[in-house]
Amino acid sequence: MLKIGVFDSGLGGLTVVQAMTKLVKGAEIFYVADTKNAPYGEKTPEQILRFSLAVTQYLVDTHQINALILACNTATSAAITGLRERYPSLIIIGTEPGIKPAIAQTQTGKIGVLATPATLQGDKYHNLVQTLSCTQNIEMFEQACHGLVEQIEKGEIDSLKTTQMLEGWLSPMREAGVDTIVLGCTHYPLIAKTIEKVMQHEVKLIHTADAISKHLLTLSGQKGYQNEGDLHVSIYATGQINLSMVDSILDAYDSLSFVEIKAV
Ligand code: DGL
Repeated sequence: MLKIGVFDSGLGGLTVVQAMTKLVKGAEIFYVADTKNAPYGEKTPEQILRFSLAVTQYLVDTHQINALILACNTATSAAITGLRERYPSLIIIGTEPGIKPAIAQTQTGKIGVLATPATLQGDKYHNLVQTLSCTQNIEMFEQACHGLVEQIEKGEIDSLKTTQMLEGWLSPMREAGVDTIVLGCTHYPLIAKTIEKVMQHEVKLIHTADAISKHLLTLSGQKGYQNEGDLHVSIYATGQINLSMVDSILDAYDSLSFVEIKAV
């Protein structure tokens, strides 16, 4: 049976789990919301690496996972290389802003990227953008969304404050003719409707949860795992977690258990 560890700083990675519940079978998912250390996006790369190593150590020791999904762009940027060095036999899949699908879909050539400050400052992001956009006639509008993850964790999906924050970041994009926005943080699909409302017109929102699930099926299939049978999801948190948000993200997914753990 495939045992999959998935982690994020909080609720955002559940958008990846939600996509996984539609595709992945015959597996157990152990999800850690590292809410004690959230938000990752406002921390240094060294801190994010330390948090990611601690969560992974917990998942390996306690749940004997054989696959790990970094359901967090920020942790992927700061920690995936270190995690691959430390756990060479684990299947490890990260999350990266979907610049490539955005370039494929834009009509105006103007792409917005919303992400955490740490993701946008990371070398991984700069390398990605350089490789993909240098040959194309693409204009990128990058925005570090300070404080947005905290709003989402509080359940302020479309509150006045969240809407005003988005208005400040998105109005320059709207005026410039951005038609495609990369949701470069797994929390942001949770406010997709508010983003669409603020943009006031048809906008394509790009996130990569389905692609991550498909990639997992390919890699686990190569190792001989059959995608058959039941899927079970357990949610763990290192600190407070907004349970009604967990419920609403995973809707009526019925094989869900919630266990609270101490700090990892
Ligand atoms: N959900 C995480 C991401 O994809 C970041 C959240 C945070 O800043 O803690 O980047």
